[in-house]
Amino acid sequence: MRHIEREELKPEESDQLLLLPGGHPPLWNHMDSIGPVGLQQREGAPGCSQEGLPCPSDSSELVLECLQQFKVTETQLQQIQASLLGSMEQALRGQATPASAVRMLPTYVGSTPHGTEQGDFVVLELGATGASLRVLWVTLMGTEGHRMEPQSQEFVIPPEVMLGPGQQLFDFAAHCLSEFLDALPMDKQGLQLGFSFSFPCHQTGLDRSTLISWTKGFRCSGVEGHDVVQLLRDAIERQGAYSIDVFAVVNDTVGTMMGCEPGVGPCEVGLVVDTGTNACYMEEARHVAVLDEDRGRVCISVEWGSFSDDGVLGPVLTTFDHALDRESLNPGAQRFEKMIGGLYLGELVRLVLAHLAQRGVLFGGCTSPALLSRGSILLDHVAEMEDTLCPSSPLAGAARVHALLQDLGLSVGASDAELVQYVCAAVLTRAARLCAAALAAVLSRLQHSREQQMLQIAVATGGRVFERHPSFLSVLQKTVMLLAPQCDVSFIPSVDGGGRGVAMVTAVAARLAAHRRLLEENLAPFRLNHNQLAAVQAQMREAMVKGLRGEASSLRMLPTYVRATPDGTERGDFLALDLGGTNFRVLLVRVTAGGVKITSQVYSIPEDVAQGSGQQLFDRIVDCIVDFQQKQGLSGQSLPLGFTFSFPCRQLGLDQGILLNWTKGFSASDCEGQDVVCLLREAIGRRQAVELNVVAIVNDTVGTMMSCGYEDPRCEVGLIVGTGTNACYMEELRNVAAVAGDSGHMCINMEWGAFGDDGSLDLLRTCFDANVDQASINPGKQSFEKMISGMYLGEIVRHILLRLTSLGVLFRGQQTQRLQTRDIFKTKFLSEIESDSLALRQVRAILEDLGLPLTSDDALMVLEVCQAVSQRAAQLCGAGVAAVVEKIRENRGLEELTVSVGVDGTLYKLHPHFSGLVAATVRELAPRCAVTFLQSEDGSGKGAALVTAVACRLAQMARV
Ligand code: BG6
Ligand code: GLC
Ligand code: GLC
Repeated sequence: MRHIEREELKPEESDQLLLLPGGHPPLWNHMDSIGPVGLQQREGAPGCSQEGLPCPSDSSELVLECLQQFKVTETQLQQIQASLLGSMEQALRGQATPASAVRMLPTYVGSTPHGTEQGDFVVLELGATGASLRVLWVTLMGTEGHRMEPQSQEFVIPPEVMLGPGQQLFDFAAHCLSEFLDALPMDKQGLQLGFSFSFPCHQTGLDRSTLISWTKGFRCSGVEGHDVVQLLRDAIERQGAYSIDVFAVVNDTVGTMMGCEPGVGPCEVGLVVDTGTNACYMEEARHVAVLDEDRGRVCISVEWGSFSDDGVLGPVLTTFDHALDRESLNPGAQRFEKMIGGLYLGELVRLVLAHLAQRGVLFGGCTSPALLSRGSILLDHVAEMEDTLCPSSPLAGAARVHALLQDLGLSVGASDAELVQYVCAAVLTRAARLCAAALAAVLSRLQHSREQQMLQIAVATGGRVFERHPSFLSVLQKTVMLLAPQCDVSFIPSVDGGGRGVAMVTAVAARLAAHRRLLEENLAPFRLNHNQLAAVQAQMREAMVKGLRGEASSLRMLPTYVRATPDGTERGDFLALDLGGTNFRVLLVRVTAGGVKITSQVYSIPEDVAQGSGQQLFDRIVDCIVDFQQKQGLSGQSLPLGFTFSFPCRQLGLDQGILLNWTKGFSASDCEGQDVVCLLREAIGRRQAVELNVVAIVNDTVGTMMSCGYEDPRCEVGLIVGTGTNACYMEELRNVAAVAGDSGHMCINMEWGAFGDDGSLDLLRTCFDANVDQASINPGKQSFEKMISGMYLGEIVRHILLRLTSLGVLFRGQQTQRLQTRDIFKTKFLSEIESDSLALRQVRAILEDLGLPLTSDDALMVLEVCQAVSQRAAQLCGAGVAAVVEKIRENRGLEELTVSVGVDGTLYKLHPHFSGLVAATVRELAPRCAVTFLQSEDGSGKGAALVTAVACRLAQMARV
């Protein structure tokens, strides 16, 4: 007998030695650390026998040479660790990685469990444990209840199913599910299922996961590149026995991590060594390039099994590894996994034993058919044989090895059992040490990303290799300490094979799915179909006709006394005022043969002035004009003035406009029913020094149409979508009952903001619209405007968010004071939030700036709410424009109409999708009109000046 003396080991090697409690070094660690070299060197040396350990007898050169190949030095381990770390970091950065790299797949699990999860869940496990499939019934009790053991059943997957068509595999799974459920006495209504699917997958959601490639002995056709959740759902439906919702798909490592009972801190790494091997860990989201997230953590499945860096693995790959790879279902792939995973360990042992037998070293130089058949030595055999290297009963162990080998049809010689044990130990030890190098890489990554000098971390372990080979963990532990000395790692074995963890993820996914349903329910009324929009168009058309005839209608169809769009001959200097949009502006407009030159200044109209007395408001306006004149050196001059006044006015001429009612948050007293031009002249009078010549009062839609019409004569419609919304267009004078004359045209200010005030839009109005209306200063008024324009969209969004919060869907159900505050969502925010170039985290930042702290899930929901609200607005607006252009076409008896619409307003201009949606809706509802939308660049002040110019020209002509 040869013995190994511990104290005689070389320093580097003795470092690798593991001591078990009681001071017994497990022999197979000696095997790896000093390995066959040690055997050679220590021939005849005493020592091991006094510890009661068996040693191989009469090792031939061949055995030594053979086992020598399984030795991995500490330096090699360090190189593997470094290369793995590099591969991980490259993949995280999103750099194109070769197939030989680790994959670093985000799992959509964003946090470790908080323990509040509860309910009954069905878990289906496929792929973790070789050819078997497991179904579990897991009850989570939340923080209160005691833990309940899951019920489970294992099914063997026939080989032809593992290699057959994908549908057959999923049908088999669905069948196993029903069989399991049939036997359960529980109530099986509304079953919630978590799918543990342990293969490399690209996840795009908690319940969406595309298989990248099969590993570990599976190769079913038609599954790679497909969503495995959908395949399972389809199979469950085909099976038809139970109605089961699949809420989550989870890798086994994630299930292991999530199911781990938190110790001092949460478990943030999941390590599986079963048929295959892999780990997952919680990475800082900001380091994951493929994710659009800068806060929080996300669980990454490393998929280290695919690591195959030739540079570092080449020197440790044995001839047996090469043979095993060649004969596998996926040659060239998963090289790292093939040295560690339980599916391969028995096979490696078999290849070594067959080799040694063929070389005459074992079994009297004879092999057996079983020894030469793939898969005849399984992980369990290796476990049993390795187990027998138990110092307390070496003889009983040897007898078991004998029996096992005899079962393989081998004639076992005196020293064979012992040698076989060493082979098993060498293969297992290498696996544990390689696994440790990979885990050490993950730990280094964690330490680096958390910027911690000393990392304290819990690793959840799962898989049969841990369960069957207790010594695997001890070698792993010891080697990790060596490779990652700054990490204080505690290993926590998973309790029920990760089933509980899968149930936890499923619970979270089910909660999110319920939230999504509630979100959809609340947004459904905002999603208008073609028929609804066509009905709006038809109603609008009808209301236009009635309004023009002077019949009861929510559309006032106000004549503007603008009879023609500009013809380009207008000239002169004009003053213009622009009141009623976001900004109040005073402008100097110079119209020359060379074009239009505008100088303008924005003045503020504070809310208390807009809502104070009329006298105050008009005095403020005149103050601004005086200031502007002084600054521009215009004092004393009496330039003709055009007044864009963006409120509904009944005009009796160009320079007369009786305010019918305020809109958009204005409510200055004593103005409604008054002629606005008179109010302005009176204010001028109060400021005695000023001379002003008010020539025209113009609605902003008209100003916009005229402004754009100066550039494009086909511009016969004006549209505003800003603080408020409205449109005007050129109508046949003969259709305008309020104005005498049968020929020619007149621009009609539709005041479409009031459309629906007669109840005609009630079917479309949601409770949120009602809330916004109720809280406005003009309840029951401007129904259409309140569904479309910037002043109200933010409020609609806010009311939806309030509802979703009260349903617990948003902000964890916590109402904040901030969200109760009116008007916090300005139009500009909607536009920013929906911008395509904005990452979700920027959306979150905007909302946080508003004082709404939220998660990414919250941010996504807020974004969807904004989208639904603005989409409806744009579509309604499009239906309105479709009604207008169709009317113009029919007025003129044209088959096809080509027309331009001049548009202004911050919502239309700033929102990333609004204009596109308006145009698309118009195309859909008015297919015979070719409509071009022109954005007004200079505001409607320029248009007001042009109207004034036309009026001056006409007046001059009349005088001449
Ligand atoms: C401006 C026009 O550009 O747009 C105004 O000059 C108009 O007359 C305004 O009222 C509408 O947009 P908003 O977003 O300012 O209400
Ligand atoms: C394989 C799979 C991986 C799984 C591991 C352990 O490597 O690709 O997803 O986690 O086996 O079962
Ligand atoms: C409001 C006004 C209307 C104006 C529109 C756009 O609807 O009543 O006159 O055109 O806002 O500013």
